[in-house]
Amino acid sequence: MKTRITDLFGIKHPIIQGGMHYVGFAEMAGAVSNAGGLGTITALTQKTPGDLANEIARCRDITQNPICVNVTFLPTVNAPDYPAIIKVIIDSGVKAVETAGNNPSQVLPYLKEAGIKVIHKCTSVRHALKAQSIGCDAVSVDGFECGGHPGEDDVPNMILLPRAADELEIPFVSSGGQADGRSLVASLAMGAEGMNMGTRFIATKEAPVHQNVKDAIVAASELDTRLVMRPLRNTERVLSNQAVERLLEKEKALGPDLKFEDIIEEVAGVYPRIMMEGDMDAGAWSCGMVAGLINDIPTCQELIDRIMDEAHTIIKTRLEGML
Ligand SMILES: Cc1cc2nc3c(=O)[nH]c(=O)nc-3n(C[C@H](O)[C@H](O)[C@H](O)COP(=O)(O)O)c2cc1C
Repeated sequence: MKTRITDLFGIKHPIIQGGMHYVGFAEMAGAVSNAGGLGTITALTQKTPGDLANEIARCRDITQNPICVNVTFLPTVNAPDYPAIIKVIIDSGVKAVETAGNNPSQVLPYLKEAGIKVIHKCTSVRHALKAQSIGCDAVSVDGFECGGHPGEDDVPNMILLPRAADELEIPFVSSGGQADGRSLVASLAMGAEGMNMGTRFIATKEAPVHQNVKDAIVAASELDTRLVMRPLRNTERVLSNQAVERLLEKEKALGPDLKFEDIIEEVAGVYPRIMMEGDMDAGAWSCGMVAGLINDIPTCQELIDRIMDEAHTIIKTRLEGML
């Protein structure tokens, strides 16, 4: 399958693995890229820019195919050294960057000058248009169903994707709720030129996370995610657990008086305990509604091959047969 996204990134299949905190290590990105998609290392998971350089080098030992690095601009407890992170990415020779969270205009000139293709992840048409106007090469349109930060507009992909198609000139991928060949064909039908997946890629053999995390995703249904931090206008879709229910109780009790400090125990620094130690009630961790469509733990190659086979069959047999 050839789209503007496969052309832009030099990849075989129009499938991207989005940046994921404490999941987007070399093993994850390398496996996705080896399978013909675009694998992404998550910069902020690395403690220092030097560690990021090592992680990119480790990924280069796993795959010769194009890889991507995610740089997230979100409210964090300690602000990362973004200029040093960008320098490491440029020096490493990586040719794709996924930006997210906030307008990337401050780093964009440096990335463009280095010939790096930038895909900005955003949750609204107005942010997508802004990304286009400042020179991003593509956008990842993240619907309300997505794992992680869906923004505050709550527009699901069934509306958001055709709206993006109506307005954008640069190519875009669907993001949020994507899991299989049906997702890919539906995304293409709505104007996207590929799809980005987060949660689906965690439930794969190569994802370097504790088995408990993969099992929790397989066990979860589409009803098991919750939205937290809405009163702080930093909404995150997470898998329900004891810590999340406690957090929601606090939100209810404190109402508009809620401050980040009130929920710090449930959200700050919890990822290593969940992703690496498998302590599933340690805190709130991002997970999409798409968990309801995830029932197995294949290799990345098996997953991507299956998606592409299914997409071909739907287009060639099911859809063409209806005409
Ligand atoms: C565990 C987890 C961690 C994530 N961390 C980040 C992150 O650090 N930066 C980012 O831009 N997106 C992050 N995301 C969002 C994903 O890149 C992707 O946009 C999202 O998962 C798509 O929705 P889906 O889970 O329904 O596929 C994360 C998602 C998950 C599930």
